[in-house]
Amino acid sequence: MNASQLANQLPGYEPTNNKPTENPSIMTRATITGLGTARGHKVITNHDLAQTLDTSNEWIVERTGIHERRIGGSCLELSTQAARTALEQAQVPPADLNLIICSTCTPDQVFPAVSNRIQHELGANCGAFDLNAACSGFTYAVSIAEAQIAAGMNKVLVIGVDTLSRFTDWNDRTTAVLFGDGAGAVVVEKTQNPDKGILSTYLGSEGRFADLLSCDFGNYLQMDGKEVFRQAVRVMVSASQKVLAEAGLTSADVDVVVPHQANVRIIESAMKRLQIPLEKAATVLATTGNTSSASIPLAMGAAITDGFISDNKLVLLVGFGAGMSVAAALIRWGQ
Ligand code: COA
Repeated sequence: MNASQLANQLPGYEPTNNKPTENPSIMTRATITGLGTARGHKVITNHDLAQTLDTSNEWIVERTGIHERRIGGSCLELSTQAARTALEQAQVPPADLNLIICSTCTPDQVFPAVSNRIQHELGANCGAFDLNAACSGFTYAVSIAEAQIAAGMNKVLVIGVDTLSRFTDWNDRTTAVLFGDGAGAVVVEKTQNPDKGILSTYLGSEGRFADLLSCDFGNYLQMDGKEVFRQAVRVMVSASQKVLAEAGLTSADVDVVVPHQANVRIIESAMKRLQIPLEKAATVLATTGNTSSASIPLAMGAAITDGFISDNKLVLLVGFGAGMSVAAALIRWGQ
């Protein structure tokens, strides 16, 4: 009897689904087959904030593009809601998942990982771990899912979730106006179609800027907004150029950019430097605020609903955040 036969006979032993089912093939690509989102249940408008802070709707809209944000719900609640919709859309039963990656910098507990509880809630039987790359985390997780599929997995659930409202000082007008809570989930699956799916990814970190945006245990987040703004535009542009070059494409080929939703002026500056018309940017931050890991899938979800992202479109995801982290992914949409 070999070790795996012995393990199968042990009481309570449940083999997980994480083994590659086929040999990795160089023609295998990973593609997104389902997407779900969830937002905090309580709406807080700029007018609400102006009741308690020395700010105004006009200032917030002009300087950020945000009109309202939604807060509330735990990472587990928001993630599970988003994940169920994504799995339903992809027609993937949770039992078929090979891996769950949850990107968050605001987990409900120090440990266990949110992804372990998500796995249990969904009834999946696979490996699960959390990843913290701040607001770039969702794109980091998509890149890891793609690599796992290249290595032989079939179906990976990627979730981006954050509840920054718990780490925001609601008496500080320089940060309170910016953030909201939410989750987005995608199912990433193997496709044999070499023309579709994730074409290239880029992961970056510039740790020398770590103090520009940070949050210590037991404290509220703090940031140097002006400098974050400057560096964000720079890293978004360079990460975007890297994934385009790797795929042998140029900014003229891009149909839709899904940028991290932090500030509409950051998006405008990056689009201008990339020489991509602003109309090609998917935005949702007017009603969500900056939802960190959730912002890119929330914007992607809205763009799919609006028909802005559809079959064969070249979609560029680009995120940045505390760290300073940055990540980009270029996707030829479809299966
Ligand atoms: N309402 C009204 N006035 C405000 C304000 C608010 N909510 N927040 C700041 N101000 C004031 C400042 O105190 C300053 O006043 P002063 O000139 O009297 O000193 C003035 O508005 C201008 O502030 P400044 O910081 O220069 O504004 P800005 O144009 O840079 O916009 C941010 C501030 C935070 C909106 C902008 O810098 C930003 O979005 N940065 C990136 C932050 C970010 O994205 N973080 C997350 C990254 S994942």
